[in-house]
Amino acid sequence: MSGTTVQPVGYACGARVMGIDLSKPVSDDVAGKIRDAWHKHLVLVFPGQRIDPFQLVAFSRHFGELEDYASQPFNRHPDVNEVMVITNKKSNGKPSPTYNAGQNWHTDLSYTIRPAKGTTLHCIEKPSVGGDTMFANMYLAYETLSPKMQAFLDGLEGIHDASLIQGLEKRGPEVAAEYKRLNPPVIHPAVRIHPDTGRKALYVNERVRQFVGLSEAESKPLIKFLCEHSVASRFVYRHYWSVGDVVMWDNRCLTHLAVGDYDPRESRYMIRTSGKGDYLGRLVAAENASPSAQPTTSAKIAEGVAALED
Ligand code: SIN
Repeated sequence: MSGTTVQPVGYACGARVMGIDLSKPVSDDVAGKIRDAWHKHLVLVFPGQRIDPFQLVAFSRHFGELEDYASQPFNRHPDVNEVMVITNKKSNGKPSPTYNAGQNWHTDLSYTIRPAKGTTLHCIEKPSVGGDTMFANMYLAYETLSPKMQAFLDGLEGIHDASLIQGLEKRGPEVAAEYKRLNPPVIHPAVRIHPDTGRKALYVNERVRQFVGLSEAESKPLIKFLCEHSVASRFVYRHYWSVGDVVMWDNRCLTHLAVGDYDPRESRYMIRTSGKGDYLGRLVAAENASPSAQPTTSAKIAEGVAALED
């Protein structure tokens, strides 16, 4: 990457990459170096880009197959299924279904069985102040827990539930109902091993309802503790957007939050791609019904579901 610099912008995560024009094709060699920097810094910021949705897709494809957002079709870009629009701008006089997207700590698409691997977000319009995005390093969140807590979490699975998306109901009853219909609760490990770095990362966030095999009453305080612990300021990088930024992050070892602190009369317009996940979780309902499920697993999940329905 001659002429390219990678400058850390946060201790926990985040680096600024200068000297690459994403409107032009990126060679496999440069893409490989970007991937290495991404694994090291988890969040990469490419400032000053002028790219359209097709160029965003072309760049993102270097890092794997892309999501077509079938789990949330109402948010898709009108011309490209692989691009989601995140905006507070009205369309056809109607409020945008993403006007309040991402406003609790989460990792993208964890409420689906194939959570997104990475996400790339391009800022096209931004409010004069506010509308930042914060990222928390979930490797550090895991590594700073006591060995006993780590061992307990290593054997635990969380139930991720789209109905815990902050402000989902405010997007309107039809959008909320369709979101939940398309995204029934799923199970993922509480700790995931990153396939490229081999490091363990906490995979618990504010969209986890309960742990499999623990009651809701037992789960809630632990979820609360982990959510608070994982977003301590020393684990967080806060990105102050400029128009033209492209920010690429790793959902396998980060959580993030869109800060909704801006004047709603001002426009925020972002386009996003997400890489298809490299791992599959399980549907709560399917696992529970599967005759081939291991008895212990079925029993654990049944307990989880029973408590969910309490
Ligand atoms: C997201 O959660 O993917 C959106 C983040 C943002 O709009 O800042």
